[in-house]
Amino acid sequence: MCALRSLNFQKFLKRTGNNVNHNDWNKHAAKFESTVCDIVTKETNNQFNKLVRAALKSRKDPVLVDMGCGVGSFVKKYQNKFSKIFALDFATRIVLRAKRRCAKIAHAEWFAMDMTRAAKFFGPRADLTVSLNVVTMGSAKKREAAWKNIHGVTKPKGYALIVVPSIESQDVVDELGKEPDERTEGGLVKRDGAWQKFFSAEEFAAAMEGNGFKVKKLVKVHYPWSVEGLRKPRSTTREPWDWLCLAQRVA
Ligand SMILES: C[S@@+](CC[C@H](N)C(=O)[O-])C[C@H]1O[C@@H](n2cnc3c(N)ncnc32)[C@H](O)[C@@H]1O
Repeated sequence: MCALRSLNFQKFLKRTGNNVNHNDWNKHAAKFESTVCDIVTKETNNQFNKLVRAALKSRKDPVLVDMGCGVGSFVKKYQNKFSKIFALDFATRIVLRAKRRCAKIAHAEWFAMDMTRAAKFFGPRADLTVSLNVVTMGSAKKREAAWKNIHGVTKPKGYALIVVPSIESQDVVDELGKEPDERTEGGLVKRDGAWQKFFSAEEFAAAMEGNGFKVKKLVKVHYPWSVEGLRKPRSTTREPWDWLCLAQRVA
């Protein structure tokens, strides 16, 4: 999993049940880039460019909503493709960092907000809704609320571009690592002291389809072995990966 792989995260964690809360993330804000693997900048197989292009083909003055924007890497990279950008994160310090990093992007607005309130606040205004390694909450109820809000902010026939951690990749990492990470049957994996939801490709597609989207592409987005604290193994050429899905909201 590219998201929560940190050297020091463990000591910051105070968990509420199975969920990493906004206070936990806030403590992480200052060193976000060095402790959180941000998939947009770390990807090694150039999938984002292709899927962003596909999503925006023939859309006029497109609007982006980035839910769980972190320090704003997606916004920074793809700012020029959008007429208007709304980016939110429930960790105030992180969203403040994003705002500072992206201060020159005049058409972006930043919100400290839980994504489960976003649909009510924004309504269905996104041509593209992005949420990268955010729907990883340990609680199924919270994940359900997150999917519903991704649907709720996306225009009918608009697109969602979502990344989640891959359980299949975790199998490979477990085989190669010194000690497998703890996991439950429901796909929760304990990474750096926190339980995070990992998805199989089928489960991810079913979550998208079950929440009002038609899957257009579901691909591996690879990232370097070093993110997993491993050297490139001789036995395999495959790098670890997250799942990346482009899906269209049904009208
Ligand atoms: C692993 S980071 C990914 C950040 C960014 N999407 C990226 O790819 O670099 C997860 C982010 O989601 C935010 N987050 C987690 N749960 C959230 C929620 N319920 N509402 C809003 N933001 C949330 C965290 O504060 C954190 O910034």
